[in-house]
Amino acid sequence: MFETIAIVKAYLTYKQSVGETNCIIEQLYQQCLHYIANISNNYCVAGVDNIKKEVLTCQNKEAIQSLFENTRSIRNYDKSIAVTEDEIKSAISLSRMAPSACNRQPVKVYYTMDPIKNVGISKLIPGNRGFENEIPNFLVVTSAKNFFGLFEYNQWFVNGGIFLGYLRLALQTVNLGSCIFQWSLRSDEKSLRTLCGIPENEAIVAIVGIGHYANESYCIKAQRKSVDEYISKF
Ligand SMILES: Cc1cc2nc3c(=O)[nH]c(=O)nc-3n(C[C@H](O)[C@H](O)[C@H](O)COP(=O)(O)O)c2cc1C
Repeated sequence: MFETIAIVKAYLTYKQSVGETNCIIEQLYQQCLHYIANISNNYCVAGVDNIKKEVLTCQNKEAIQSLFENTRSIRNYDKSIAVTEDEIKSAISLSRMAPSACNRQPVKVYYTMDPIKNVGISKLIPGNRGFENEIPNFLVVTSAKNFFGLFEYNQWFVNGGIFLGYLRLALQTVNLGSCIFQWSLRSDEKSLRTLCGIPENEAIVAIVGIGHYANESYCIKAQRKSVDEYISKF
């Protein structure tokens, strides 16, 4: 609602700047303001930014390239260094820049700092056999199905998957290793929902194990297909 009001305000400001007025919308806008009297005028931003080419152009290509080239799924951690909430929030702050359909931002990230509950999550993950005791913390990424219409079936997973990709790189940026875990139909969804307090309207996209890098991480080689195998020119 606040973003809608901000958009209407940006629209009216633009119309004013080109010498036009729209009394009906202006009146509706004033009525809406009445309902949000306690919210600051700048709570939401809307309108258009004109961004210079030099801002959009990558300034540190080597660092970004290294981020992409050295990102790996990490399955062993230095558990003597505790993950902090600040680190988790910093990574989520960067990941918020992930694009989403109509900027709907359907994603939510559930986490706990309670080691026993983290063990509880680990026990529910189907794909961590053999290293189920190695990962100290987990992030459960969900996506709200009710943010999408009938003809947008499964789009919650598309939006959630894009967020996941951003999250993995963001975690590496704040020096946390991570491994994404599939949440499948075979998983004990009821137990995970109860443990984390996830409502039914949110689809579980994946669970991400996180922690501080050990001095050495054992990573599977995970050969990538060549660019030629990825493409199909037509
Ligand atoms: C959606 C998704 C589900 C995954 N599920 C698991 C899993 O259950 N167990 C696991 O050990 N790794 C899992 N992975 C990690 C992949 O095995 C890994 O990304 C892939 O082998 C490439 O290796 P890399 O990430 O080290 O480059 C998953 C990754 C994604 C994106």
